[in-house]
Amino acid sequence: MGCPAKKVCNRLCGSALLQDEPLVGRILEAVVAAAQGTGVPVTLKTRTGWDRAHRNGAAVARIAEAAGIAALAIHGRTRADFYEGEAEYDTVREIRAAVSIPVIANGDIDSARKARDVLDSTGAAGVMLGRAAQGAPWIFRDINGLLVQGVVPEPLARAAQRDIVLEHLQSIYTFHGEDSGLRIARKHLGWYGKLLDDTPTARARFMAATDTASQFACADREFGAWCEQTADAA
Ligand SMILES: Cc1cc2nc3c(=O)[nH]c(=O)nc-3n(C[C@H](O)[C@H](O)[C@H](O)COP(=O)(O)O)c2cc1C
Repeated sequence: MGCPAKKVCNRLCGSALLQDEPLVGRILEAVVAAAQGTGVPVTLKTRTGWDRAHRNGAAVARIAEAAGIAALAIHGRTRADFYEGEAEYDTVREIRAAVSIPVIANGDIDSARKARDVLDSTGAAGVMLGRAAQGAPWIFRDINGLLVQGVVPEPLARAAQRDIVLEHLQSIYTFHGEDSGLRIARKHLGWYGKLLDDTPTARARFMAATDTASQFACADREFGAWCEQTADAA
């Protein structure tokens, strides 16, 4: 119940549901009832409300808790705010205070320090990240380092980053197959490509590959050369 897309909200799905609290209750009760006995917890993700004049995130959280929802993730923006402005962590804190189920704070968390600050300021049970993990999945290692050991680990060496990129590509191909795998990997290579020194050229090469084998070989070459550059510099 967080998606802001017009084509979703026009059908009264996604965050548009926040405008109809009784319907939210009925949907959640039905989903929780359907999952009963499976051992699978049902969780909910919402925004803070439809717009700034209707921030009903706390009311929706209470409805969710009463329906048996196990945990709640809150993207700290209203639907009307799309991705504009700063996430409202104050509202996330208010929602957290309204219920006893775990609340997970989401929105604009892009570093270990920010994750720590958001946890402290909202009292949330956890944090959720989206965009900051695109092209940088090692951010979770940094965050866990700070939260668990109290220090952000040294940045990963280029070779370790390259290994993660290549392993990620292989996983995408295995999971999605040749055609979808090629397309989905392009999107990730677009993000990973920002690491490279000559991003536009590398990006053009990634996009030009017409099968997963040549796409992988291209990524292997580009990121391999990128690792060599540090060796030269050293
Ligand atoms: C390209 C894109 C696709 C997304 N798809 C989903 C989705 O399918 N389901 C969902 O709950 N949130 C989705 N989100 C929202 C994110 O989960 C998250 O709530 C939002 O990006 C704010 O967090 P962030 O600042 O860490 O990115 C998507 C966000 C982006 C940018």
